[in-house]
Amino acid sequence: MGRRTGLLAVWLLVVACYLAPLSAANVDPNIVNTRVDRKLDLATQTVRISSTIKFENRGSTPVRSYLLALAPSEAAHLAFIGATQGKGRSQTTLAVEAVAGIPGVPSSLSLYEVALTRPVGGGESATLEVVSVHTGAEVPYPAEITQSEEQLVLYTGSLHLVSPYATASESSKVGLPTSLVKAYTKAEPVKKSGTEITYGPYSDVAPLSVEELRIHFENNSPFAVADLEREIEVSHWGNVYVTENYKMRNAGAKHKGTFSRFEYQARPGMSGQNAIRELLARLPPRANSIYYRDEIGNISTSHVRSTSRVTEVQLEPRYPLMGGWKTEFTLGYSLPLADFLFRAKDGRRVLNITFGCPLRDVVVEDLTVKVILPEGSTDLTASVPFPVAQARDVRLTYLDTVGRPVLVLKKSTAVMEHNQHFQVSYRFRGVALLAEPLLLVAFFLALFLASMACLRVDLTIAKSSASYQADLHRHKVRDILARLAALLTARATEADKIEAALKELSRSGDVGAARAARKAVEGSLKDSAKSVKALQDELDGAGDAKAAAKAAAVVAKEQQKVTAQAQLAETAVAVWEKKLAAKDGEQRMAALHARIKALKQEVRDAIQALED
Ligand SMILES: *[C@@H]1O[C@H](CO)[C@@H](O)[C@H](O)[C@H]1NC(C)=O
Ligand SMILES: *[C@@H]1O[C@H](CO)[C@@H](O)[C@H](O)[C@H]1NC(C)=O
Repeated sequence: MGRRTGLLAVWLLVVACYLAPLSAANVDPNIVNTRVDRKLDLATQTVRISSTIKFENRGSTPVRSYLLALAPSEAAHLAFIGATQGKGRSQTTLAVEAVAGIPGVPSSLSLYEVALTRPVGGGESATLEVVSVHTGAEVPYPAEITQSEEQLVLYTGSLHLVSPYATASESSKVGLPTSLVKAYTKAEPVKKSGTEITYGPYSDVAPLSVEELRIHFENNSPFAVADLEREIEVSHWGNVYVTENYKMRNAGAKHKGTFSRFEYQARPGMSGQNAIRELLARLPPRANSIYYRDEIGNISTSHVRSTSRVTEVQLEPRYPLMGGWKTEFTLGYSLPLADFLFRAKDGRRVLNITFGCPLRDVVVEDLTVKVILPEGSTDLTASVPFPVAQARDVRLTYLDTVGRPVLVLKKSTAVMEHNQHFQVSYRFRGVALLAEPLLLVAFFLALFLASMACLRVDLTIAKSSASYQADLHRHKVRDILARLAALLTARATEADKIEAALKELSRSGDVGAARAARKAVEGSLKDSAKSVKALQDELDGAGDAKAAAKAAAVVAKEQQKVTAQAQLAETAVAVWEKKLAAKDGEQRMAALHARIKALKQEVRDAIQALED
């Protein structure tokens, strides 16, 4: 008997030792959630759930960790999860780690272990703030809409905070973008008031209670989803250059039927409600040399506003991005190096800059961040506050001898919460900094010597020689052509004001203003036409028939373009004054738009050719 008890004791000890490493992550039956308040923010395409959890340790041994669970519907769309303890200045971020295989918890649930700042003793309480962000949890329903319909979405989530612990009292507030709700889960007590639905309070919710929450509601906020490649190039000459290449799509309800820009512009807020009209970038303070372009060229519709804390850039895509439509564009800017690069005590250099996408409310499915360091940098290490994939590369540009080291970081499903600072530290040999200038000095020295040699040859030609006279004549013709090119470019800018006035007309409906604007433009075009004629006469006088013919062809083409622009204005005004049916007018305008676009290109090419 005594021997048996002894054996059992040994066996139990073995089992206990075996289980010991896991025991930290066991469900502690002494923990009870005394009060849970959840806020579900459904106002945009990303769902943010913040929960304030007050729990009590009803046992006697202190607890060091707390377990969180997610229902499959929540876990499938999880982009970010984080926990904090304390408020204001004493707020601390807690480590949250995925765990699995905990006895008594179904494997269908995802579990996370939160390490508490300090142990919670027997009889004590503590409060946690947990935030989770979910993408793709709001599905457009119906999946396709016409230009005049609003976007409806279906959210599927969890009615309760899924917890391995019992919850004494729980309530949830759901925030919606508008008060239009087609249907929602009716789990009493539930109350809808305006743009808010309140669930609970529910008392004594059993551990691991999983109940589905479904809400079908209006959400016209843009569903901008992108793949983004950011290049952060460090130049020790004082700048950090950032280039961001976006491949963006509108992941909202797909646009059905034909698109009428006329209707879109005439009825803003009623037409194309789920379109992406503009994007807001929040860049660091002192961002400069900002540009925004796509495959056609610079897009001028961007506005920059800067304060001491942020530089805000408002970007308006070339065309509204309707549901299902795609676009590609590049945003670039420079930052002062001094704001981002520091020297560590051990001599290493540390770049400290934000990781994620600076555009608001954009979900980045594939994010690549490339940090390009100066030639001569070695021993690179990155420190990112969340898991990312890392790789190395080398970039060779002009003047480089061995190439610049590149650190490539990749992250899938990045949201606003991932726009945190990260650090790249490296060693740098100061001498390498001189390699490029020395190369430049050598290059210019060679150029200088070469030009000296040429000049010497040139100086031997007498000013009165035939070749000198021919040269002078060629210069004169070239000068006239350059002046003509500049004049025609200025005329193009002036004529474009007609189209700007039409855009304004479609917004304001002020026909009188459009007429006045057009009259002003036509007046100034008439004046500059005289200067064009004068230059053509000068060219005739110079006796270069080939150049004169070239100039005449451009001038004729440009005249066709201005005529088409005038016809466009005529047609738009006629539609607004109802002298022309909207449908016919739109067709005619579309044809004119296409013709003007083609002519513009031809004129641009021809002007370019004048200067060659
Ligand atoms: C586009 O804008 C940038 C910044 O203003 C400028 O440096 C660049 O020359 C422009 N490019 C073209 C093609 O106009
Ligand atoms: C990086 O910069 C941010 C913002 O200026 C700052 O809050 C943070 O402490 C810096 N991190 C490091 C490691 O220097």
